[in-house]
Amino acid sequence: MSIAMSPSTIPRLRGLPLLGNLLEVRYNFLMFLLRLSRECGSIGTFRVGSRTILYLNSPELVHAVLVEHAYDFEKTPNMRTYMSPMVGNGLLTSENEFHKRQRKLAAPAFQHRRIATYADTMVNYANRFQDQWTDGQTIDVAYEMKRLTLWIACKTLFDVDVLGEAEELGQALNTALRHIRSDYSDLVHISHRWPTRHNRRFREAIARLDATTYQIIAERREAGEERGDLLSMLLRAQDEDDGSFMSDIQLRDEVMTLILAGHETTANALAWTWSLLAQHPQVYAQVRDEVDRVLGERVPTVADLPYLSYTLQVFKEAMRLYPPAYVIARQAVRSVEIGGYHLPAGSVIMISPYTLHRLADSFPAPGRFVPERFAPGVEERLPHHAYLPFGDGPRICVGNHFALMEGHLILATLVQHVTFELVAKQHIEPEPLVTLRPRHGIKVIVRRN
Ligand code: HEM
Repeated sequence: MSIAMSPSTIPRLRGLPLLGNLLEVRYNFLMFLLRLSRECGSIGTFRVGSRTILYLNSPELVHAVLVEHAYDFEKTPNMRTYMSPMVGNGLLTSENEFHKRQRKLAAPAFQHRRIATYADTMVNYANRFQDQWTDGQTIDVAYEMKRLTLWIACKTLFDVDVLGEAEELGQALNTALRHIRSDYSDLVHISHRWPTRHNRRFREAIARLDATTYQIIAERREAGEERGDLLSMLLRAQDEDDGSFMSDIQLRDEVMTLILAGHETTANALAWTWSLLAQHPQVYAQVRDEVDRVLGERVPTVADLPYLSYTLQVFKEAMRLYPPAYVIARQAVRSVEIGGYHLPAGSVIMISPYTLHRLADSFPAPGRFVPERFAPGVEERLPHHAYLPFGDGPRICVGNHFALMEGHLILATLVQHVTFELVAKQHIEPEPLVTLRPRHGIKVIVRRN
């Protein structure tokens, strides 16, 4: 019989008196994560002010928390407090029976058969974007991917066209996400209601996002038609017990959650992919060859995807190096044994795909961009849970197939028409906001093929 050890025996990362590791968390989070991984190995603790956080960094421990003991954990109250002004009690933040019910309602929109019907929209919109770029033009490809994926998410999930508003919406999302990230690492939580300048800008951004979301809901209620999309499913859904329909507030929360989760992550994954391709011309050429060979001049369809496997490998490898969801956090709802340690209820856990994906045991020469790691027959040999871009267990990303198909199709479509060259002397740096995004964008020169 094994005896569980107390968490006080877990290696603790050095920090400052009182503040602990707050300054590093706040100002240099990615370097801090790498230091945690280097100095603590697979398990360690650190402090943000008075809060102690347990860091887990091995495939086995990830499995224990996200899968084996999934129901002994919840999302952290901090995450809910900071995210809720934006996404309320939507799929990302809700818990227990309510979460299960909402997830069951949304799941059909993300089934394989269903998402295959989104493929045409994804390709069509990607083509409309590339059509507008002229030879020699400089674009910020991170910004363009954000507009493109926002447009695709709104069209496929809610059948609305937001291209005209994409810029304004994007800015509002940006302001809100920046606010949430800085809140996350604050020692003292300042209520969103306090009249600070920071809070005012945040509230304005949320009001802008609300206006669009409620408009989407109102227009559909008024039209009263069944369009077979996610919004129709949510509007039609009735409570099993009392037969009631979802309130506008709950609908708003789900719509906002899906707009946010459904575009920002994929956009960042694509931005990093273009940046890596532009820095690895041989890989870029190999993708182009594959796309030429399989598609020629044809637009890609779902049926082509199995034959464009190298293109998907590139996308997966980019998400290994730059996982958009670079941190996953949980809090224990009851006492639980993880990795031989007895964790009391309330323990806060942090898993970081950013460091997990850089473990040399799973990914030799982890800093190198090697799409062959995900080649058929090779990928299957990776340790289970070594690669975690979409999380796992009951809270695994509901949109993971959607995202993989979208990334795959957008890469193939754009590679057919344009090649991106990085603008020289720019500083490309990951910024750990709610997702991992390029801090100053990624400027590229468009070369039409
Ligand atoms: C490359 C793109 C994406 C990445 C890397 C990603 C990553 C993730 C991760 C890691 C989680 C789990 C978080 C946790 O366990 O705490 C998650 C949850 C979620 N994602 Fe994604 N995601 C992506 C795209 C999408 C898309 C396209 C959609 C919808 C269209 C979406 C909707 C959601 C939702 C609703 C949840 C919450 C699920 C739940 O808790 O039941 N994601 N995502």
